[in-house]
Amino acid sequence: MSALFTPFTLKSLTLRNRIAIPPMCQYSAVDGLTNDWHQVHYASMARGGAGLVIVEATGVSPEGRISPDCTGLWNDAQIDGMSRIASGIKAAGAVPGIQIGHAGRKASANNPWEGDDHIAEGDARGWQPIAPSAIAFGGGLPRVPRAMTLADIARVQADFVAAARRALAAGFEWLELHFAHGYLAQSFFSPHSNQRDDAYGGSFSNRARFLLETVAKVREVWPEHLPLTARFGVIEYDGRDEETLEESIAVTRQMRERGLDLLNVSVNFVIPDVKIPWGTPAFLAPIAQRVSRSAGLPVASSWGMDEPQIAERIVADGQVDLVMIGRAHLANPHYAYQLAQSLGVARPDWTLPAPYAHWLERYRGAAKQAAA
Ligand SMILES: Cc1cc2nc3c(=O)[nH]c(=O)nc-3n(C[C@H](O)[C@H](O)[C@H](O)COP(=O)(O)O)c2cc1C
Repeated sequence: MSALFTPFTLKSLTLRNRIAIPPMCQYSAVDGLTNDWHQVHYASMARGGAGLVIVEATGVSPEGRISPDCTGLWNDAQIDGMSRIASGIKAAGAVPGIQIGHAGRKASANNPWEGDDHIAEGDARGWQPIAPSAIAFGGGLPRVPRAMTLADIARVQADFVAAARRALAAGFEWLELHFAHGYLAQSFFSPHSNQRDDAYGGSFSNRARFLLETVAKVREVWPEHLPLTARFGVIEYDGRDEETLEESIAVTRQMRERGLDLLNVSVNFVIPDVKIPWGTPAFLAPIAQRVSRSAGLPVASSWGMDEPQIAERIVADGQVDLVMIGRAHLANPHYAYQLAQSLGVARPDWTLPAPYAHWLERYRGAAKQAAA
C-alpha cells in the first residue's frame, strides 16, 4: 500500500492522495483578471490526479502583485474568472485551493523570463513597493520600499480579509496565506528586513504581530470547516538557522492557536546571499517534520520532492503530510498518474477522468498481456 496514495483529511475535506500542486505564478493575467490560459492550465493539472491544486500567488491589492501580470482578488470583477478555475479543478476530482499574498518590497518586478528584476523607476508599468522598513532586498531587486505606516498595515490586513472572502465566493475550499519567500509577511518576521521601532518590529512578538493578526482576522471570515493554511519560510540558510527555526516554530504554534490548520514549510528568501542545499533531495522534509512535531500541526512542503521513491518515503516516514510537486507537473500535467505507475499503485483510489483512463488502463492491460 502506498503512503503517497493514501487519502488525507483536513477539516471537512478529504484529498484523494497526498500529492499537491503548489502555487506557481503564471504571469499571464491582465489587471489581475484570469483568462483562458489559467483555466486550461489549472484544469489540466487537476486532471492529472493530484489531490489538491493551489492557484498561484494572487495579489490582495494591485500593489501586492509580484508583477503587473499576476492574478488578483482585490475587486469583485475578479471573482468570476476565479470561480471558473475553482470549478474546473473540482470537476476533475481535486480540491481547489488558492494562495493569497502581498509581495511587499519584491513587488513591481518584471516577469522571470524578462529579467525577474524590479521594473525601473519611472516606467509606467511599475509602482512604489511597500515594506515594514525602507530596506531594499538587493541583487536584482534594488528598489527601496516605502516603510509602511500603521494605517498601511491595517489596510493590507483588511485586503487579506477581503481577498479571502472573494476566494470563498469563487468556490475555493483551501486557503493558503503567502507568508513566505521574502514577501510582505515574511519580511515583517525577519530581522533582516524589519527594523521598525513600533509594535510591529524589534522583539519576537512584535515581528510576529503582522502574521498573527492576519491569521486571526482571516479566520473570522474563512469558514471553520475549511482549511486555513499558510506558506511560511522557516529557515533562511544564513548561518543563524537554529535561532530562525526556533522562532519560526514558536510563531507557527501561535498561528495554530489562532486557527491555522496546516503549514506549507518553505524557505525565507529574505536576503539574496544564502547557502540553500539545492543538491540535497527533499532537504526541507526533516525540517518540516520538526516543525510539525514541535508546533503540533500537519505540514506540507516542496523543493525537489518529486522523485517517486523520495515522495513515497517522506510521507511513509511521517516527515510531511502532503508532498507539493511543482515543476514536474509543468513538464507533465499527469505526473501524479505517472507517480502511481512508478510506485506500482495498480488500483489507485482515484482515477484519471474516464475519457483518459479508459484508454490508458486498457493499453496497460494489453501491454501486460503482450509481455506475458
Ligand atoms: C513557475 C513557478 C512559479 C512559482 N510561483 C509560486 C507562487 O506563486 N507561490 C509560491 O509560494 N511559490 C511559487 N513557486 C515555488 C513552487 O511553489 C515550488 O515550491 C517550487 O517549484 C519547488 O517545487 P518543485 O521542486 O516541485 O518544483 C513557483 C515555482 C515555479 C517553478
